Amino acid sequence: MKSEFAKSINDTYTLSNGTKIPCLGFGTWIPNPEEAEEVITNALEAGYRLFDTASQYVSERSLGRVLRNSGLKRDEYFVSSKAWMDEMGYEETTKAIDRSLERLGMDYLDLYFVHWPRQPKGQPGFENWKELDIETWKALEDAHDAGKIKNLGISNFLPHHIENLLPHCRILPVINQLEMHTLCMQEYTLDYCRKLNIQIEASAPLGRTHAFENEFIQQLAAKYNVTIAQICVRYLLQRGILPLPKSTNRNRIFNNADVFNFEIEREDMLMLTCLPNTGWIGEHPDVAIPTVSCPRDQ
Ligand code: A2P
Repeated sequence: MKSEFAKSINDTYTLSNGTKIPCLGFGTWIPNPEEAEEVITNALEAGYRLFDTASQYVSERSLGRVLRNSGLKRDEYFVSSKAWMDEMGYEETTKAIDRSLERLGMDYLDLYFVHWPRQPKGQPGFENWKELDIETWKALEDAHDAGKIKNLGISNFLPHHIENLLPHCRILPVINQLEMHTLCMQEYTLDYCRKLNIQIEASAPLGRTHAFENEFIQQLAAKYNVTIAQICVRYLLQRGILPLPKSTNRNRIFNNADVFNFEIEREDMLMLTCLPNTGWIGEHPDVAIPTVSCPRDQ
């Protein structure tokens, strides 16, 4: 659990296909889209170079504008986006990838995810998720061959979803993005993905603030003289996980990136790892699938 690697925001993880990805990313699910450009500009200034968006987040246009005007070269930042549940299936996903590229104003995505393995109840892809995932994945593989996507990812996929998909993959998923934080570590899925060399990215690494109420985490923040959010982010880095914290506040954006000058001791790491998993947000890829649709015209 010692973090030889996470010494700087410029450190990278190496994915199973050899791609290097920044060890810390910025989540761009920004509730007020009018704020997005300012928020993303602050994140860039704080040093983030990995930006995670999705067609559902409505931040792709703002993200593209900020990055294209940043003065950075295209290979100096890393962008991921995702196909929403109503963009699944070969044809739909193929179009969704083109829409994301158009909104971002980019020729390629560094990484593209299937956002959820299954559509909500009542939709065809609730019962037929196995076929739907396989068809959707083919669209990602073909977009990869066409140079539109550099790396392929799954998001919110649990072991049974992965087991269904893998035998049909021509190109393997290199990342699984999951809700993951100190109060919801999904240890079984984490271990399962590790064995398959699938890197885990943690969405909601602060437990969408649930972690802030935990007394032990509060004590650790005082002990290391950092914020609770810094403990949460640092903990994930020391577990070899790639956290994607979100904030709309400039100070907090900088704070969440300032996690490279302290180290959580082994005993504290073990205690954090053994905290009760009380922080699950409520969304679940089989039983509590989000039902919002994707605002396509944004
Ligand atoms: P805000 O945007 O006002 O900073 P998660 O990344 O787990 O989804 O959590 C996001 C939530 O955590 C947002 O409500 C965000 O609010 C809040 N947040 C992000 N960073 C911090 C921080 N350093 N301290 C306190 N709250 C934070």
